[in-house]
Amino acid sequence: MSKLLIDGCRILGGETKVQGSKNSALPILAASLLSRGESVFFGCPKLSDVDSSVKILRYLGCRVKRSGHTLVVNTESINRDDIPEAMMRLMRSSIIYAGALLATTGRARLTFPGGCEIGNRPIDLHLSAFKRLGAEITERHGELIFKAPKGLKGANIALSFPSVGATENIMIAAAKAKGTTVITNAAREPEITDLADYLNACGASIEGAGEGTVIIDGKEKLHPANHSIIPDRIVAATLMSASAVTGSEITLDGVIKSHLDAIIPCFEQAGCKIDFDAQKMRIKAPKRLKSLGLIRTNPYPGFPTDAQAPLMAVSAVAEGITVFSENIFESRYKHVGEFVRLGADIKVEGKVAVVDGVRKLYSAPLCAKDLRGSAALAVAALAAEGTTEIDTTEYLERGYEDLEVVLTSLGASVRKI
Ligand code: EPZ
Repeated sequence: MSKLLIDGCRILGGETKVQGSKNSALPILAASLLSRGESVFFGCPKLSDVDSSVKILRYLGCRVKRSGHTLVVNTESINRDDIPEAMMRLMRSSIIYAGALLATTGRARLTFPGGCEIGNRPIDLHLSAFKRLGAEITERHGELIFKAPKGLKGANIALSFPSVGATENIMIAAAKAKGTTVITNAAREPEITDLADYLNACGASIEGAGEGTVIIDGKEKLHPANHSIIPDRIVAATLMSASAVTGSEITLDGVIKSHLDAIIPCFEQAGCKIDFDAQKMRIKAPKRLKSLGLIRTNPYPGFPTDAQAPLMAVSAVAEGITVFSENIFESRYKHVGEFVRLGADIKVEGKVAVVDGVRKLYSAPLCAKDLRGSAALAVAALAAEGTTEIDTTEYLERGYEDLEVVLTSLGASVRKI
């Protein structure tokens, strides 16, 4: 695996295009199994998690071709209903194939998914929803066997937590179930809406995506469709953080303002000026940032848990106290110890992290521990005096397409070795 070397304290400038959303592409690629034929996906980011998804699709018998950011998936010759453990462990999103395989073949043989170690990441909400849709599930030696010999039937499903993955899995499974499925307390993330847009383009009937109640009228048959993946709002937040910690002004192309409604005020409170011109956002940071106040992570439209680490890097060099409350995952502060090595002043007590901003950070060798945490280390390193080494890009490459190239194009000095 490669390392990252980052020379800090350089002013950034210029413009860059924000990549397509990982968390939109992954469920949509799984949903392509619901129809027979060729779907074309534009704006698909080049990420190891997307590669893992392509590996699963090919294993199931699909033909997948990539040219640039366009993926062509042909599902004519699906010939399996199982996914080997090694593939399931590659990422969290592999669990989304349960709904897709159940809806397509009436069977699925999987194991528990992998994913970043930010909590134990149970799938109880997924499993109870599939049972309500009429699936029989047996678990044996870590293997999950799903069966719906007579097909799935619509049901009312109330989620005890607005789980993104569970909402997506239910939408995919219910799209071809007999009858109507109503999900209450559904997740409302933009990626849910993007998945619904793709499925509706395939002939599904899904209403209310992006709101708390989603209604899915099951269809006998769906057909392939083409779809453009929405921009990645977390990558946008990460690049905004890079601009903020370096006191720079940059322009991000391909940003959907409403997806950042909970994030923009944090940067404005820190003293950044943000304005929009159509799909372009310009962010101008002050010489010295002010504290970001209190940041509570919550389900969308609240502040996204995936942006907690990058914004903590901003708070580490902002004047005053910033308090974070991580309410979604139980262990999503692994980057704190690494920030402290750079000279940050951060105390963690349970789900609360208290950051007392310092004037300067100093380079140190860092260990990346999860996807968003490693992006946050890169952001903090941009503000640290000297050259910071991050031990692996393995996590970063799961969700950021060529981050070192993007930052270098904005004037940073970042080398991948
Ligand atoms: C999705 O994960 C994203 N991943 C995560 O992004 C994101 O942090 C998360 O949603 C929240 O927004 C993908 O879309 C591939 P959840 P997911 O189900 O679906 C608990 C990144 O960095 N829960 O909304 O796994 C769970 O433990 C990744 O891109 C159950 O208890 O998130 C967690 O505490 C990290 N039982 C909370 O719900 C379940 O059956 C939120 O999980 C499912 C979830």
